[in-house]
Amino acid sequence: MATAPSDKSNGPESTKDSAVTTIPPSIPPPRKVALVTGITGQDGSYLTEFLLSKGYDVHGLIRRSSNFNTARLDHLYVDPHISSKARMKLHYADLSDASSLRRWVDSILPDEVYNLAAQSHVAVSFEIPDYTADVVGTGSLRLLEAVRLAPKSIRYYQAGSSEMFGSTPPPQSESTPFHPRSPYAAAKVAAHWYTVNYREAYDLFACNGILFNHESPRRGENFVTRKITRAVGRIKVGLQTKLFLGNLSAARDWGFAGDYVEAMWLMLQQDKPGDYVVATEESHTVEEFLYAAFGYAGLDWKDHVEIDKKYFRPTEVDSLKGDSTKARRELKWKPKVGFQDLVKMMVDHDLELAKKEKVLVDAGYRDSQQQP
Ligand SMILES: NC(=O)c1ccc[n+]([C@@H]2O[C@H](COP(=O)([O-])OP(=O)(O)OC[C@H]3O[C@@H](n4cnc5c(N)ncnc54)[C@H](OP(=O)(O)O)[C@@H]3O)[C@@H](O)[C@H]2O)c1
Repeated sequence: MATAPSDKSNGPESTKDSAVTTIPPSIPPPRKVALVTGITGQDGSYLTEFLLSKGYDVHGLIRRSSNFNTARLDHLYVDPHISSKARMKLHYADLSDASSLRRWVDSILPDEVYNLAAQSHVAVSFEIPDYTADVVGTGSLRLLEAVRLAPKSIRYYQAGSSEMFGSTPPPQSESTPFHPRSPYAAAKVAAHWYTVNYREAYDLFACNGILFNHESPRRGENFVTRKITRAVGRIKVGLQTKLFLGNLSAARDWGFAGDYVEAMWLMLQQDKPGDYVVATEESHTVEEFLYAAFGYAGLDWKDHVEIDKKYFRPTEVDSLKGDSTKARRELKWKPKVGFQDLVKMMVDHDLELAKKEKVLVDAGYRDSQQQP
């Protein structure tokens, strides 16, 4: 038990109440705990890096797969058997399985939950609409319910998407009506409104981040930006000649994923929960991305790109450009990486990757036609 200093007249803490004069031992405040779904994805890996740098303990929910799917986290992983200092822990769960979500929320009792998990590919959502709706829409509801029922007040972040605006013309802000154009976008709209409803009905600290496209060298290789930069690298080293794409006139507001995860965190640090558009406020077509990426590598995209109708979607989203005034004003957030630097970062990364692939092909370990 702490004792009061013997000379009460000394020092600024001096007071008539001896109990108050106790100098507390310097115990560091307990670390904050975050629970992240979709931790193995592009954003999950950047968010985990960010939260660890802020001193958080991070628990990630991963789904079972026949092979390891943690490549984006490998540089952060410390085996808890080897070191008690491991601050990122992974657990099996699935957004389609309410019991697993409930179990982990209840046993970890995090301060903050970031719901990033999704079947996040718009074109694929036309192929597997039922599954997409279940994981993206109902999955978010399952997680919200687990958070609501937990014996602790937990802050919740929902990964919303600019795709929710669909055919509503730009610029798009928090007050722009949604008009989703894919099963993915419609499911994200459902998740958005579930989040708003839980905030209003149960006073939950729940925020929707309406994030416009954000890319990085960790972007999945079947997303158009990464598909382009992977092709640039492979064409440059002679592993590929053609790139097949769909609609080149689609315009998107492309930012860097590393910048966007900070906005997610900032939303949960505010005094009140709210919904925020996060965007660069600059829009570029796929053709402009091609021009920038191939041009940076000294190539002409017109020599290599062919259109394949199978990549057109039944309903297209023509133009997205965010108005992020609210995030910039209230969160004091703004993007650090611009369009040209983002393209260069991705091309530089994928050129190095292609050079490594070339070594394997030249050594006979890999077929040059083998797609990455
Ligand atoms: N990147 C963007 O431009 C953008 C823009 C707006 C909104 N968003 C949304 O932001 C979130 C993160 O995006 P991202 O680019 O990081 O996506 P991503 O790379 O595709 O990652 C998606 C994550 O969700 C996990 N997942 C998929 N189905 C699941 C299920 N049934 N149960 C549990 N986990 C599941 C994936 O696990 P596996 O590794 O096992 O596949 C992966 O970890 C997503 O919700 C996405 O829809 C992204």
